[in-house]
Amino acid sequence: MIVNGTPVSGDVEGRTLLVDFLRDDLHLTGTHVGCDTSQCGACTVHVNGLSVKACTIFAIEADGAAVLTIEGMAKDDGTLSALQQAFQDHHGLQCGFCTPGMVMSAAMLLKENPKPTQADVRTYLEGNLCRCTGYHNIVKAVMAASGQDVGAVAAA
Ligand code: FES
Ligand code: FES
Repeated sequence: MIVNGTPVSGDVEGRTLLVDFLRDDLHLTGTHVGCDTSQCGACTVHVNGLSVKACTIFAIEADGAAVLTIEGMAKDDGTLSALQQAFQDHHGLQCGFCTPGMVMSAAMLLKENPKPTQADVRTYLEGNLCRCTGYHNIVKAVMAASGQDVGAVAAA
């Protein structure tokens, strides 16, 4: 497969999950495992341009695919992408455990809907759980990254 623009290969068991291949074989540990049961979204990556929870598919299902992980989100010079910077600027994280998955899901939202409403953001990110932030600042960050006002973020 192509991971963050680089061709990679490996031998895996049929049962090896994509998230485990990324973390254990490729040492791309930015993709987190929060539940392993498709609940938390911490393992979200992009596979062939679609947002995927990497604990829900086997590595062999991504054979030949283009995979994008959080490590591939920064700019070429290593600085944060606009979306990542917005998370930092608007305190869209505390412990940071959910953040890679949040960023990958939010990036897909903005690709599909460049000017989402706050309700759109909350709906799109409902598959990503955060135990720390209360979500308000995550919504602010995504709204800011879309170039929209973040002055008043309503409670869900
Ligand atoms: Fe994949 Fe939680 S680790 S959804
Ligand atoms: Fe801690 Fe979201 S910032 S789980």
